[in-house]
Amino acid sequence: SAAGTAMNLKDHIRGIPDFPKPGILFYDISTLLRHGPAWKEAMRRLAEIVRPHRPTLLAGIESRGFLVAAPLALELGLGFVMLRKRGKLPGAIIGLNYALEYGTDRIEMQADAVKPGDRVVILDDLLATGGTLAASIALLRQAGAEVPGAAALIELTFLKGRERLGGTAFDALIAYD
Ligand code: PRP
Ligand code: MG
Repeated sequence: SAAGTAMNLKDHIRGIPDFPKPGILFYDISTLLRHGPAWKEAMRRLAEIVRPHRPTLLAGIESRGFLVAAPLALELGLGFVMLRKRGKLPGAIIGLNYALEYGTDRIEMQADAVKPGDRVVILDDLLATGGTLAASIALLRQAGAEVPGAAALIELTFLKGRERLGGTAFDALIAYD
């Protein structure tokens, strides 16, 4: 629509200084989420990015990635797989540890969530260092899926997270540098 073309999604994101730590500018998607037309337009644009990858499933990264992946899966008529933090999922689990600035984190999924030949596109709200998304891509591949692409609402381009994705296609709706 004309209104959709004109909408600037950046107007619906606010930067909150010194959260969660002094010196960090936190890009808050709450204002986008609670504005119906802007949220709908964000999902419409992400659907355009994701569709050409011809996914058979979408995956979302806990927790804010769930907010993106679940409505998009509905929009595209696809199933949705949860990539979760440690210890949250029942049954047989596979997981991957990844390095943070200090310490490590872990991402997990159910071992039977994907089957060989599945094409899984991964969604998150934001790409920062890319560590979380890189680990998610590696985990899904370990589970036997193809990962033709990934997408997010926001990319912090100055952190060069894209360079850690090993050539997996990545797009974001909004960039900050
Ligand atoms: C944030 C964000 C991404 C990740 C990006 O999640 O939602 O998932 O960090 O960081 P990276 O690119 O440097 O790995 P967070 O761990 O804060 O948790 P949340 O989504 O549960 O709020
Ligand atoms: Mg997150």
